[in-house]
Amino acid sequence: MRHDPSEPHVHLGPVSVDRGLRRQGIGGLLLIRHVAHLDTVGAVGYLETDRPEAVDFYRRFGYAVVGEAKVLGVPCWFMRRPSA
Ligand SMILES: CC(C)(COP(=O)(O)OP(=O)(O)OC[C@H]1O[C@@H](n2cnc3c(N)ncnc32)[C@H](O)[C@@H]1OP(=O)(O)O)[C@@H](O)C(=O)NCCC(=O)NCCS
Repeated sequence: MRHDPSEPHVHLGPVSVDRGLRRQGIGGLLLIRHVAHLDTVGAVGYLETDRPEAVDFYRRFGYAVVGEAKVLGVPCWFMRRPSA
């Protein structure tokens, strides 16, 4: 993808929990598994989101905003998680 870092990394695709099941720990469990995998293999994580509220969610799991841009006119945030 155009904004992906040039360094080797794992690109996390969109994470979504059914609207009626949010805030019950499901998304957090998915991210815990994801970052455990990153740490096991020593990989950098990278993701893109167009949801400002999701930026705070991903921050909880070690991701930090490394860039912002409009993609097809929509503001997007690019987030990276360093390797362990
Ligand atoms: C973002 C999303 C995946 C979170 O899933 P979830 O199952 O509701 O999350 P959890 O209940 O596991 O919450 C995990 C932690 O993140 C926090 N959190 C959850 N949603 C949050 C939000 N929108 N903003 C800030 N913090 C959030 C919770 O408070 C919780 O923190 P805690 O462990 O200190 O209590 C879910 O809200 C969703 O599907 N949203 C719509 C799609 C989306 O925006 N996806 C991300 C962009 S690709």
